[in-house]
Amino acid sequence: MSGRKRATRAAGASSGGGSPGSPAAAWRRLTREIERCTRCPLHRTRAHVVVYRGSLTPRVVFVGEAPGAEEDRTGVPFVGRSGRRLDAAIATLGLAPSEFGVLNLVKCRPPGNRFDRRAERTCRPYLDRQLALLRPRLLVTLGAHSLRAIDPDAPPVLRSAGAVRPDHAPPVFPLLHPAATLRSRAWHERWERDVARLGRCLSGELAQPV
Ligand code: URA
Repeated sequence: MSGRKRATRAAGASSGGGSPGSPAAAWRRLTREIERCTRCPLHRTRAHVVVYRGSLTPRVVFVGEAPGAEEDRTGVPFVGRSGRRLDAAIATLGLAPSEFGVLNLVKCRPPGNRFDRRAERTCRPYLDRQLALLRPRLLVTLGAHSLRAIDPDAPPVLRSAGAVRPDHAPPVFPLLHPAATLRSRAWHERWERDVARLGRCLSGELAQPV
């Protein structure tokens, strides 16, 4: 199965059929549009556009930065080492597949994995349209770029991570980027603490339930 087919299947996994005017059909049209995008130079070096994986009616959407090598190869977000760390966290949170989705600010891999602010600006309308269709009740940002893009007023990620920002619509729960937690034992321990807090937030023990 090609990466593009896998990505499309992941995106449509729980979309059902849907009449031409339905949200599921709008999602499929948007996915096709993103997959064909040539608006920035990253399209020249990508193997696959990395659009989304998960439920189309998610309670929680995890927002990463940009695809890495494994995501570029498969067309699916967070399938490399960072993805395994993220999936382990999602498993400890007890989120069912119907309850969450995963996407990135930038849909194509930046060469050398250097985050590309120009590509972020070009891609931004896609992210906004994805979130308008998905309508999650909570956004979990992964890393500094994601937090800055989603909630520009938030303090830096090391200060923000682990506490819900309830005034944002929808509320935002910042986490460190999972890749950073693979490089440092201290950040891994911080990640585990913050994920436990996210679990308490989801069960309504912290701030308002989401
Ligand atoms: N890092 C990200 O931010 N996104 C991915 O999809 C993979 C690694």
